Amino acid sequence: MTAKKKILLTGAAGYIGAHTAVELIEQGFETVLIDNFSNSDRSLLQGIEQIVKQKINFREGDCRDAAFLDSVFSKTKFDSVIHFAAFKSVKESVLHPLKYYENNIESLTALLRAMHRHQVNEIIFSSSCTVYGQPDSIPVDEKAPLKKAESPYGATKQMCEQILEDTVKAHPSLKVVSLRYFNPIGAHPSAHIGEMPTDVPDNLVPYVTQTAAGLRPKLVVFGDDYPTPDGSCLRDFIHVVDLAQAHVRAVEKINDLPHRIEYINLGTGEGVSVLQLIKKFIDVTGVPLNYEIGPRRPGDVVKTYADAHKALALLNWKTKRSLDEALQDAWRWQQKI
Ligand code: UD1
Repeated sequence: MTAKKKILLTGAAGYIGAHTAVELIEQGFETVLIDNFSNSDRSLLQGIEQIVKQKINFREGDCRDAAFLDSVFSKTKFDSVIHFAAFKSVKESVLHPLKYYENNIESLTALLRAMHRHQVNEIIFSSSCTVYGQPDSIPVDEKAPLKKAESPYGATKQMCEQILEDTVKAHPSLKVVSLRYFNPIGAHPSAHIGEMPTDVPDNLVPYVTQTAAGLRPKLVVFGDDYPTPDGSCLRDFIHVVDLAQAHVRAVEKINDLPHRIEYINLGTGEGVSVLQLIKKFIDVTGVPLNYEIGPRRPGDVVKTYADAHKALALLNWKTKRSLDEALQDAWRWQQKI
């Protein structure tokens, strides 16, 4: 058996980073986790340890800090880096665009420089379906044109992909997989890790679970007059554990892929409306949910879901977990925190 790769995870105390750390460690990869806790909670690190039943190798620091990165890269000869560290609130990015450009862009450029200095040539990048903007047709495949970003957050994801594309051209040994996530939801079934919004959540499912738990008076559905079957927006909700497992596949397959930079959608391939999700939540948990229809949220994409065939073809990956499981896991996690 060939030795497992050594992987650096940035933003490892965040929602997707923590779930990916668990999957990698459980598969026997040697991992080093870094995070600066700017938008994450230390308790997720303990949650990771409870699941994997071993001590994790964690270093606190900022990806934009070259000296910090040098100290991390000098200690371990990594095969690959998975770069999660970034801010992700659409709303906050509109209010504080520079905060987003500085953090999301500089952390990637500093990381690529450090990888170059230490001859690490494989990077998996956390991208988003937000790069497609309002798609012309659904399901969206990777050849769909990138429309003007709806927010500075979306613009940082597009810019980061451009930076990766240009850097691949300039550095013939670099290989990149940019994973375009649709809507990650749910939590680890153990309820040791999950989504931990540090503020009022922007995203639908944490808002649903916090409302169901009585932490918020009501959920507002942002619009029911869209041109969709029930009038609410349509999304592709993917269980975070499925999403995490796609990263393991990307690390395993990066050297077998046809191009040195690959963009790959991660979604279920099915569209589910906001109202359908709410009804499903009530149904699977048996918990009542106070919600009402409100006005549209500016900047929302009306309908999007993934064409997920490329992920199957290149990574031999597809989702295994249902929406029911995702909502049950999200609720189990909410009850614990
Ligand atoms: C957005 C971004 C996505 C990003 C994610 C991270 C776009 C198109 N998508 O996802 O790239 O990774 O944020 O934060 O920019 N909703 C309600 N009430 C609520 C909250 C949400 O009705 O209280 C609705 C929204 O209007 C939307 C759906 O639920 O139709 C999903 O919203 P949300 O969870 O915020 O995700 P996106 O906006 O799809």
